[in-house]
Amino acid sequence: MIRAATPADVPALTVLIQRSARELSRGFYTDRETESAITHVFGVDSSLVADGTYYIVESADTFAACGGWSRRRSLYGGDQRPVGEPAELLNPANDAARIRAFFVAPEFARKGMGRLLLTHCSAAAVAAGFTALELMATLPGVPFYAALGFREVEAVRDILPDGVALPFVRMARRLDGTTFESDATGAHA
Ligand SMILES: CC(C)(COP(=O)(O)OP(=O)(O)OC[C@H]1O[C@@H](n2cnc3c(N)ncnc32)[C@H](O)[C@@H]1OP(=O)(O)O)[C@@H](O)C(=O)NCCC(=O)NCCS
Repeated sequence: MIRAATPADVPALTVLIQRSARELSRGFYTDRETESAITHVFGVDSSLVADGTYYIVESADTFAACGGWSRRRSLYGGDQRPVGEPAELLNPANDAARIRAFFVAPEFARKGMGRLLLTHCSAAAVAAGFTALELMATLPGVPFYAALGFREVEAVRDILPDGVALPFVRMARRLDGTTFESDATGAHA
């Protein structure tokens, strides 16, 4: 079952996010990079919770996964270190909706939770008038988003406050069946 997260869920979501990052980043990030990301980047962005666009996949009485989308400019980051302009609303006519902070519990990995969340978020973004999605993928996220039709836009390194240079990949996907190459305006974000 998917439901919108509420402020009361944030402590349990924080535990889920940290478990997911520690287990599922192995082989993609070093332990130092993962711990730095947990401190400075990975976490709940409460503006999505307030907007009703951050979701929890529940299985029995446990949280199997969380993730969301956003109509606001910020591309990534949790409450501990907002990146970008979280308050600025995007324009569906010109901007891509953001896909934000997907984290799957390790015991539910590769069971379609991420795909389920992306389908849910895409439908909500389309209903809000958006025709494209954009996100900042972690390295574990890259093969997942590539499998779901996203293309890589650019490799990025975020220098975190402790000096760790964390690699990410900005990725994008259209929602209207066209490709960026066939989009005459070239506008996707
Ligand atoms: C990235 C993540 C969200 C994927 O979630 P998931 O529920 O395991 O993904 P799904 O089961 O829906 O996978 C869908 C498809 O993506 C691809 N995929 C997912 N994880 C993959 C991996 N580690 N390696 C290669 N392909 C992968 C596969 O094609 C998969 O289909 P298949 O299982 O039928 O082969 C999850 O690994 C995660 O939480 N990682 C840690 C946190 C993180 O970095 N999140 C991304 C934030 S941008």
